[in-house]
Amino acid sequence: MKRLYLTFIALCTLLYLLCTAAGAKAAEAAKPGNRYCTTCHIDFTSVLPKGHRDVKGEDITACLGCHPPNTIDKAEPNIFFSRIHRAHLSSKAKLDCTVCHIWTPGKRFALRGQKQSMVALSRSDMTSLKNIFISWSDSPYLDSLHGSQNVTCNGCHDTMLPKSDDTVDGEKCLKCHGPLEDLVAKTAPKDFPDRNPHKSHLGEIACAVCHQGHGASSVYCLNCHKNFKMKIAR
Ligand code: HEC
Ligand code: HEC
Ligand code: HEC
Ligand code: HEC
Ligand code: HEC
Ligand code: HEC
Ligand code: HEC
Repeated sequence: MKRLYLTFIALCTLLYLLCTAAGAKAAEAAKPGNRYCTTCHIDFTSVLPKGHRDVKGEDITACLGCHPPNTIDKAEPNIFFSRIHRAHLSSKAKLDCTVCHIWTPGKRFALRGQKQSMVALSRSDMTSLKNIFISWSDSPYLDSLHGSQNVTCNGCHDTMLPKSDDTVDGEKCLKCHGPLEDLVAKTAPKDFPDRNPHKSHLGEIACAVCHQGHGASSVYCLNCHKNFKMKIAR
């Protein structure tokens, strides 16, 4: 009986140690300032694309030699940027930016191991940026649809770090979705050809009047034309 009791105590202790170890690991990873990829990935091979060469190292600097940071004015889709951010900033993962970036509030925001500061980010800038990165990673909105196609922030915006009142110039959207005549032709309704969201008596209106980047879109025409049947995705 006593032996059974001791075994029970030993098992409980083991269980407790294992659980706190797992808890400690999660807590360690969540801690701002922790830079170790190895907290969560035993090695990189299991998470790198198939056929990728072996990579040794323990933090983001292991990748940057071959994957140098995108420059602000290079707005092509960027698969590396997308995958590294979307995997870790989904609404489930929500990894702290400082695993890979150095941030001094109001002063500096830069990649680890890089001297150059991208821009000064205040605490409130950071809060809104975080929310938008998470939205771009896996929301039901346009941002995340584009993220899944590796369209990054400066695909739509002029910069990688838009300010909180930023909007998007239609010319940017039309670089990928234009020219406007083609878009107009695509969205002309068969039954009522003049109820075209992209060509109406309103003339040219900003895309963002209807298409929200980081929230639910809505068809502006319906503000006045309650009887029209028009739908907009996302
Ligand atoms: C807190 C835990 C955690 C840390 C720390 C972490 N990752 Fe991840 N990583 C994840 C999770 C979760 C996924 C998603 C796995 C999945 O989708 O199956 C992931 C996925 C990945 C992927 C695959 C992405 C894709 O879409 O193909 C790569 C590459 C990666 N991580 C690299 C890194 C690097 C480099 C670091 C360090 C700078 C790092 N991770 C730090 C949790 C972490
Ligand atoms: C020795 C060079 C080297 C290192 C170090 C390296 N990579 Fe790569 N990686 C490549 C090459 C080459 C490709 C093929 C695509 C390309 O040309 O960008 C690639 C492609 C990728 C892709 C697919 C993106 C694409 O453009 O097709 C991901 C994701 C990726 N690497 C993640 C990582 C991560 C995460 C690290 C650090 C843990 C890392 N790589 C370190 C050379 C490297
Ligand atoms: C797992 C690592 C990782 C995490 C976590 C991470 N980043 Fe990054 N970030 C990178 C890498 C690597 C680059 C450079 C890749 C590139 O530009 O192609 C980068 C680039 C950027 C850039 C572009 C800079 C430029 O000059 O092009 C911005 C902005 C950025 N990150 C913001 C954030 C924010 C905000 C967070 C947190 C919400 C965050 N990142 C979290 C790895 C990460
Ligand atoms: C860098 C290229 C690029 C830019 C810039 C861009 N998009 Fe897209 N967009 C895409 C891709 C790729 C898709 C997904 C494939 C597709 O459906 O065409 C997409 C999909 C869409 C869709 C959904 C289409 C559908 O069939 O459901 C809408 C709506 C859209 N974009 C609107 C916009 C608006 C508005 C802007 C500007 C704020 C914009 N896009 C900027 C590339 C881009
Ligand atoms: C008045 C509201 C409104 C404005 C302004 C607007 N759109 Fe649309 N857009 C819509 C609606 C509604 C749809 C869905 C129409 C459909 O599916 O036939 C749509 C669909 C789209 C699609 C998907 C087309 C497809 O392949 O089915 C793209 C891309 C798009 N818009 C881009 C733009 C761009 C770029 C601008 C700015 C130049 C813009 N929109 C301005 C309402 C608007
Ligand atoms: C598909 C195009 C598209 C992409 C990609 C995109 N945005 Fe936006 N963003 C918009 C549009 C359109 C607006 C105008 C406000 C709105 O409609 O939501 C906007 C507004 C903003 C604003 C100001 C409004 C606010 O809610 O604070 C910020 C900041 C912002 N975006 C940051 C980002 C960041 C960071 C990324 C990358 C992670 C990004 N955006 C990617 C289209 C995009
Ligand atoms: C500010 C209110 C307002 C907005 C927004 C608006 N309209 Fe109109 N529209 C009117 C008025 C007023 C008339 C003329 C009176 C009428 O016939 O209802 C009209 C007439 C029309 C007509 C011809 C009459 C009909 O009912 O068929 C069409 C087609 C039309 N609008 C399409 C659009 C489309 C497409 C949009 C969105 C791109 C739009 N309107 C946005 C107010 C508006």
